[in-house]
Amino acid sequence: MAERTGMERDVERILLTEEQIRARIKELGAEITRDFAGKNPIFVGVLKGCFMFMADLLRSVDIYCTMDFMAVSSYGSGTSTTGAVKINKDLSSDIAGRHLIIVEDILDSGVTLSYLTKYLEVRRPASITLVTLLDKPSRRRADVHADYAGFEVEDAFVVGYGLDYAEEYRNLPYIGVLKPEVYEHQGE
Ligand code: PRP
Repeated sequence: MAERTGMERDVERILLTEEQIRARIKELGAEITRDFAGKNPIFVGVLKGCFMFMADLLRSVDIYCTMDFMAVSSYGSGTSTTGAVKINKDLSSDIAGRHLIIVEDILDSGVTLSYLTKYLEVRRPASITLVTLLDKPSRRRADVHADYAGFEVEDAFVVGYGLDYAEEYRNLPYIGVLKPEVYEHQGE
């Protein structure tokens, strides 16, 4: 077998292949197309993790809609949430009266989406819908439920397809479980 020289060296196993992700996103896109036809929703991607999912999901959605992005961070460079959410970039659109569809790569503790939902509610959108590619219900601390979830995943440290560890691995085309030795020496 050829020597592994790239990022895959740090991946213990592939959790979701490109094909699985693509097929599931088609289904989600079809559901959203059916549910939001004629509603002209605004999709709000939560950067940076959402970027690949947002791009693929929106290509599967066949309705008139607009898009905007927010950038938030909660994790720093560690592997679990600190509980603090920082808004690094706010929306540039007026969302009053609009159907808001928030697009996330992962719903973990729920701290980020719980905070964001409250933060955006005061701008009086017509509705707020939550879409996440990955859902880790075993880790939930805040009372948040995704309206559309791609995959329920175990409590493993996953990277790829937008998800990072210390800002790297986002460009892996699949979702993999990171080898513990990659992050277990952090902070030493
Ligand atoms: C990740 C992810 C979600 C959040 C989910 O973002 O994109 O926004 O964590 O975790 P929670 O449910 O425990 O709040 P992160 O802060 O790592 O920033 P990133 O999107 O730039 O990677």
